[in-house]
Amino acid sequence: MAHKYTIKSEGGKRYLFFDYRGSPFTPSIADVPETMAEVIEVLKRTDADLIVLADVYERVYDEEQAEMLKQISDLSQTFEKEGVWTYSALGGDKAECQQFLQQRYNTISTIGRTQLLQDPIQAYMNLINVIRQEKSQAATMASEFKYCSDVYLNTLNFMLQEFETTKLIQKFKFILKKLGKLPPGRDIYRSIFETQIKPSFISSRVFFATPENIELIDQYNVLDATINIYKHPEKIQYLYYVDPPEYNLSPEKYFLLTKTKELVASFHPEGLRFMSPTEVKEYFISAYESTIADLAKKNSIKITGKEIEELARIVARYTVGYGMMELLLSDRRLTDVYMDAPLGLKPVYIVHSDYGSCQSNVVFTESEAKSVISRFRSQSGRPFDEAHPVLDFDMPDLQTRVAVIGPPLSPDGTAFALRLHKETPWTLPQFIDVKMMDSLTAGMLSFFIDAQASTLVNGSRGSGKSSLMMALMLEILPSLRIIVQEDTMEIPVPYMRSLGYNIQRLKTQSAISVSRTAAEVSPEDALRTALRLGDSVLIVGEVRSQEAKVLYEAMRVGAVGNVVMGTIHGENAYSVWDRIVNDLGVENTSFKATDIVVTCAPVRFGGSLRRHRRLIEITEIGKKWYDDPEKEGGLVDLITFDTATDKHILMEKNLERSEMFPRMAKKRGLTVDQLWQDIQARAETKNYLVEKKREHDIPDLLEGAYTVPANDKWLLLLEQQREVHGSVDYDEAVRDWKKWVDENQVTELLSRRTPGA
Ligand SMILES: Nc1ncnc2c1ncn2[C@@H]1O[C@H](COP(=O)(O)OP(=O)(O)OP(=O)(O)O)[C@@H](O)[C@H]1O
Ligand SMILES: [Mg+2]
Repeated sequence: MAHKYTIKSEGGKRYLFFDYRGSPFTPSIADVPETMAEVIEVLKRTDADLIVLADVYERVYDEEQAEMLKQISDLSQTFEKEGVWTYSALGGDKAECQQFLQQRYNTISTIGRTQLLQDPIQAYMNLINVIRQEKSQAATMASEFKYCSDVYLNTLNFMLQEFETTKLIQKFKFILKKLGKLPPGRDIYRSIFETQIKPSFISSRVFFATPENIELIDQYNVLDATINIYKHPEKIQYLYYVDPPEYNLSPEKYFLLTKTKELVASFHPEGLRFMSPTEVKEYFISAYESTIADLAKKNSIKITGKEIEELARIVARYTVGYGMMELLLSDRRLTDVYMDAPLGLKPVYIVHSDYGSCQSNVVFTESEAKSVISRFRSQSGRPFDEAHPVLDFDMPDLQTRVAVIGPPLSPDGTAFALRLHKETPWTLPQFIDVKMMDSLTAGMLSFFIDAQASTLVNGSRGSGKSSLMMALMLEILPSLRIIVQEDTMEIPVPYMRSLGYNIQRLKTQSAISVSRTAAEVSPEDALRTALRLGDSVLIVGEVRSQEAKVLYEAMRVGAVGNVVMGTIHGENAYSVWDRIVNDLGVENTSFKATDIVVTCAPVRFGGSLRRHRRLIEITEIGKKWYDDPEKEGGLVDLITFDTATDKHILMEKNLERSEMFPRMAKKRGLTVDQLWQDIQARAETKNYLVEKKREHDIPDLLEGAYTVPANDKWLLLLEQQREVHGSVDYDEAVRDWKKWVDENQVTELLSRRTPGA
């Protein structure tokens, strides 16, 4: 039976697409000889990079596999062209050889025609056998038949050589050597032609076959899918394997799914514009549920309410959701997802918060990218085309920052980088818990924020700058007004409001996006506005360009009342100075308005390839220098980091050079010693939370919802002490505070646990 086939072009590759819908044959090259033969036959006429066999599920044969099949197809043509079964090739030009011809013809044409296409490995093995037999027969043959045998062996050996140039046979020999024996039936093809499969209406492909010897090291669920984390003995990267239910449904459920998808394709209800993305989705899910229930009833398919809901959620994921991307972005243990150009060839790779960068089993395709991008365009109101090849924005419903690039900037086609925001902001105690910093460093930072130090957080891309700045924001007194200026909205403003913060958000034009819309305000204009909004804490999400001048000018003339904080790309305090003064044109005198520069970096320990994020430096910017702060001792490191021991170091010697500590002490009417007591007490309180979290396994204790009230309580206790004693007894304050934490927060979190859990 001949199946219809077409060539489809995607991502610069040619896909040979066979339609197996309704066919009695299984669309599997590995399992079915006829299927294999048909594909090889078609490859004689068509050229393709990849091969797809489609019924309800699609099997995709990758470039290497297609190449192997193509070579077999070429081999078949070579045999034909060289006439290996013609009489002369079998020895037929001599009369005495006539008697052998019929049998030889049968043998060779079976091997070189039928078997070659249906089971090339068997054909090859048979050929070897025939050669062996012919050789042993030739040894006992009368001399007048020698010629007949020579000609025949010549032909057989030619065929053997040709077989051995193919990748398929080479691969087979390699596997055979490894296994020691031939696997039964068509098992050998199952390992050579393992495929990525996917349901026809979805375009992402998933690879299910797992390599040998891998070790399952973790397993958990995301939405309705299972995530398996594997360790490969020879690879450094872990494997991240998704097992989504839609790739593994019973035929009835699959039927319901595809039918529903067809039926709802034209479904465009009114009034959805006023709903949030989540509401829209829930709306569709319930509409799909009734469609599925109807269909099931009409077709007498037994299905439970729970199964109906599951199917409806899957349909929604591929109609109003982001498909496979949505599944990945729902795994909040991921921090980044990368889909490189050209799409459709390499699997998606991800960065996992526990397992570092991993290769996934998902292949995201150009056609899926197209539909996702059109949704991004309409959501962001920004263009994405040849004239605007960069799209950079925040997905509001999935708390993810998206960067998409396309041609001509990315000549190989569309590529995505997705950064998943943590659902709640990091807190200093959480950072202590993951060893980003030690408690003394946290205490110091907390004190600096309270003392209104102007702070820049710097580091390389993805080093944790924004996360650290958000943690520092949670150290700001909630009574202060905060103005946040960002181009991509990363700071979880609604969450911070829920903790009692008063925040005004200014969203500015994206600096890196080429796709700007006229309605957006430039960062420098936004900042001028922010400064007019009066006495507030000012947070600049990322200092990138011209706004730096405005910011520093304002700081210099004292137009900014309270704390100023921002993140900036760099690798240490010196590079921050260099960038701001030499690249962005801020005056040295203005730059001195910066009090401290905090540096984050990804660090590798002891030759391990896994990176851990660490705060590696806190540097005070001195005020008594003129040209170059480094040469003139204007950069005073207060905290440094030792990679060998994974420890933070307080630079006691440098503290003597610090101008900031005496200045801050004076401002608060304290001695420098008292100021250190304050820092140490803060360190102790933060550390206490971490200890209690670990002791009782109550991670929520380190979330902002607990640390912010705990901070408030701390400041309140200090205030009370000042009122009662005129000064602070830090030991007593710490004792009282710990008691409060135990009796309130710890008790509450423990009581919230379900008994027995
Ligand atoms: N100490 C840490 N341990 C583990 N993960 C961290 C740590 N700090 C930050 N992260 C995570 O690392 C990712 C990158 O962090 P973040 O966005 O803060 O980096 P960034 O330096 O601001 O990056 P960019 O240069 O893109 O602005 C986030 O997913 C964040 O949750
Ligand atoms: Mg950032």
